[in-house]
Amino acid sequence: MKAINRYNVTVLLLLTFFLIPTLIWANGRAGEMPGAEGEEFLEYITEVNPYHEWALWPGTEKFYEGTEPHGIRLTTYVNEKALSGIEQGMLEEGMPYGSIIVKENYSADEELINVTSMYKKHGFNPEGGDWFWIVHTPDKQVADAGRIGMCMECHGQVKHRDYLFIEAHEQ
Ligand code: HEC
Repeated sequence: MKAINRYNVTVLLLLTFFLIPTLIWANGRAGEMPGAEGEEFLEYITEVNPYHEWALWPGTEKFYEGTEPHGIRLTTYVNEKALSGIEQGMLEEGMPYGSIIVKENYSADEELINVTSMYKKHGFNPEGGDWFWIVHTPDKQVADAGRIGMCMECHGQVKHRDYLFIEAHEQ
């Protein structure tokens, strides 16, 4: 009987001092936004709050027809913040901080080429709408991140819509 008791006590101790705090910690992290840094951001969108579980940009479907320089086929995901910004028509006054938009760029035969994302991070780059830009490869390596000149230059054409090209979903 003693052995069983000791076993029970061990399980109880493990639960109290290890499993429960781990669960609370993991749960807390999902609500915490990443810094404007490539690896941290990538970990966030692939592991902490996986973007494949997010909504698609309203009015778009998977593998919609793309435009240069992005893929021929595109799939665009938005996190909750970005979705609420789009739904509230905030494209002109600016999307809410914490918005993330992830665009998967595919070839004509729907092979993933790379993933280009934008993340609205307070104070990151006030002259550029505070957007953090990042490109990552299908095997989850950061190809480029930060204030990427090429992205900012082209998206600068739609600065009046907070640097976003895709048309807002008709309400
Ligand atoms: C030459 C112009 C050009 C360049 C350079 C460019 N983009 Fe885009 N981007 C577009 C266009 C056009 C769209 C809209 C495509 C569509 O229909 O989804 C777009 C869409 C996006 C979107 C979806 C949100 C939106 O604006 O509609 C993201 C995210 C994005 N681009 C990220 C990037 C990143 C990151 C880079 C740099 C690595 C980059 N783009 C470089 C033209 C460009």
